[in-house]
Amino acid sequence: MTRGDPVLEAARLLRGRTDAVALTGAGISVESGIPAFRGWQGLWGKYDPMEYATLGAFLRSPIKVWRMLSEMVALCGDAAPNAAHRGLAELEGMGILRAVITQNVDGLHQAAGARNVIEYHGNMEALVCIACWRRYPTRQRWVDGRAPTCDCGEILKPDVVLFGEPIPWLAQERAEEEARTCGVLLVIGTSAQVSPACDIPRVAKKAGATVVEINPEETALTRTVADLHVPGTATDAVRSILIALSGGEGTPR
Ligand code: APR
Repeated sequence: MTRGDPVLEAARLLRGRTDAVALTGAGISVESGIPAFRGWQGLWGKYDPMEYATLGAFLRSPIKVWRMLSEMVALCGDAAPNAAHRGLAELEGMGILRAVITQNVDGLHQAAGARNVIEYHGNMEALVCIACWRRYPTRQRWVDGRAPTCDCGEILKPDVVLFGEPIPWLAQERAEEEARTCGVLLVIGTSAQVSPACDIPRVAKKAGATVVEINPEETALTRTVADLHVPGTATDAVRSILIALSGGEGTPR
């Protein structure tokens, strides 16, 4: 683990690069009003994921699972990108950040202007019929409190990866390629507890990348895979790193 001001160190690691990649989790969207899954006020504290977030649970009782999904659709629908989402788009615009691999299904990276976004767990903005595979924009079919249906009569599922479902193969291929070939991996707002996403930092590290973790708390990565831990919220840390990159001060005192 590197000593000294972590923000200045992160800026030093990013300066002049063109091969940085970011891996993001629910923590980056907490300051946009979308709760994380675990920890204090986490969504899984309210809904048992084994009852509300597995493919099996959805097939067994889709109307019940839509109670949780409706809450997520509403939260994602009302949310706007924050300074961390915008900061990553800015790093991409500066040519430093090459891609964002996100576990989030809220579309906020794209809403902030990021172009190369790999949606590892899918996206809430589309619904798919698990009988005839027809797809619909969520806002066209979703009504709060009801399970949306397909023209074929089947209940629609959001185009997100539930537990027990495979990662979309193209997203998995692209994410692993980015991890294998990046120079710096920024890991922002993930507890790194869910596989295979939590393996991405290990793939990057094994391929020689420097892993920089941004999280107010320590995670399973902090004392194992991370080379640098920036202890702070996503918005504070990303904003401070951008300031430091432009020659300003380090961690705000
Ligand atoms: N800024 C940065 N990080 C934050 C912030 C913040 N403002 N607030 C919380 N965090 C951190 C927490 O400390 C925690 O480590 O974000 C992390 C959120 O962890 P989880 O809730 O476990 O979310 P995530 O890692 O994205 O979950 C992975 O699990 O439930 C499934 O499919 C779901 O994509 C999700 C996957």
